[in-house]
Amino acid sequence: MNQTETRRPDFDFENFTFGVQSTDHMLMAAYQKGAWSTYRIAPVQSISLSPLAMCFHYGQTVFEGLKAFRMSNGKINVFRMESHWKRINRSLKRMAMPPLPEELFMEGIQQLLKQDSAWVIDDPEYSLYIRPFVIATEQKLGVDASQEYLFMVVLSPMRAYYNKPLKVKVETNYIRAARGGAGAAKNGGNYGASLLPQINAKKEGFDQIIWLDAKEKKFIEESGTMNILFILEGNRLVTPELSDSILDGITRDSLLKLAGEEGFSVEERPVSIEEICQRIENGERVEAFGAGTAAVISPIETISYQGKSFATYLAADAGMYRLKNRLSAVRIGVLPDKHGWNHLL
Ligand code: COI
Repeated sequence: MNQTETRRPDFDFENFTFGVQSTDHMLMAAYQKGAWSTYRIAPVQSISLSPLAMCFHYGQTVFEGLKAFRMSNGKINVFRMESHWKRINRSLKRMAMPPLPEELFMEGIQQLLKQDSAWVIDDPEYSLYIRPFVIATEQKLGVDASQEYLFMVVLSPMRAYYNKPLKVKVETNYIRAARGGAGAAKNGGNYGASLLPQINAKKEGFDQIIWLDAKEKKFIEESGTMNILFILEGNRLVTPELSDSILDGITRDSLLKLAGEEGFSVEERPVSIEEICQRIENGERVEAFGAGTAAVISPIETISYQGKSFATYLAADAGMYRLKNRLSAVRIGVLPDKHGWNHLL
């Protein structure tokens, strides 16, 4: 397949729906006979698979989400690319899929971004979302780990994922993941299984749900497709500790590492829903927000639990906005990258 030259497309960078538009090119590599092929970059195109391909049947699909930004010096920054490579390999391992070599992931994404660099516009509110994913392609209906896979990367322009603070409902019926399950992996099934409770919550007038632990339905795990963090008393950043039922969020990790620079102490510990509701009821100042690559920080406005609504602190001086601004400033090179997160093209 010939590469076409990327021209800046006739695309409205101000008004668009996330995830519908891809850029001009994609990356593809195949795994066969125990090895990954070299990648190729080609115009975005449909792919053809056997209906017996295993990804259609037993859920061996894994994805990542990372972002490229245009820095203040004009360069392109792929934020925390290496952390995302390590995480996709952890997800692949959990799903009995072969790891991606570092060079294939890192080099491949960089080349793809160079090809479609015109899509990384100079606007601090904008990013180019990078979606690497691996699917099982072996033609076989027996339940087994596939012997063949396809690795692909597509790119999609992005602005704010949510445009207002969220009203969330604590989900007390369904659970997202259990200890010993695959909740820490970024496999498609985790997201598929979250849709019905999410749709139900929407029908009840909520934007998102808060997931509780599977065993006691007492401890907070995540919010929607994001990690969840709280700021207590204006300066304590608190979040559930990681486990195999919580995704090891890279935005979560970045915020925890930046917290000290904004004067926050950090607590990674079990956080019960009772504690949060009690604090709000006592009149304490509680900030709550989701954190993920897509949304970055998504303020939570109300938490609904056992028929009561609890209002969080959302005023303009809330600490979560300072954290978000600090993270954004590092990513576009306005603040120094002390942690070595920026990968410049
Ligand atoms: C993220 O918050 O980055 C996510 O994983 C959401 C994504 C599936 C759109």
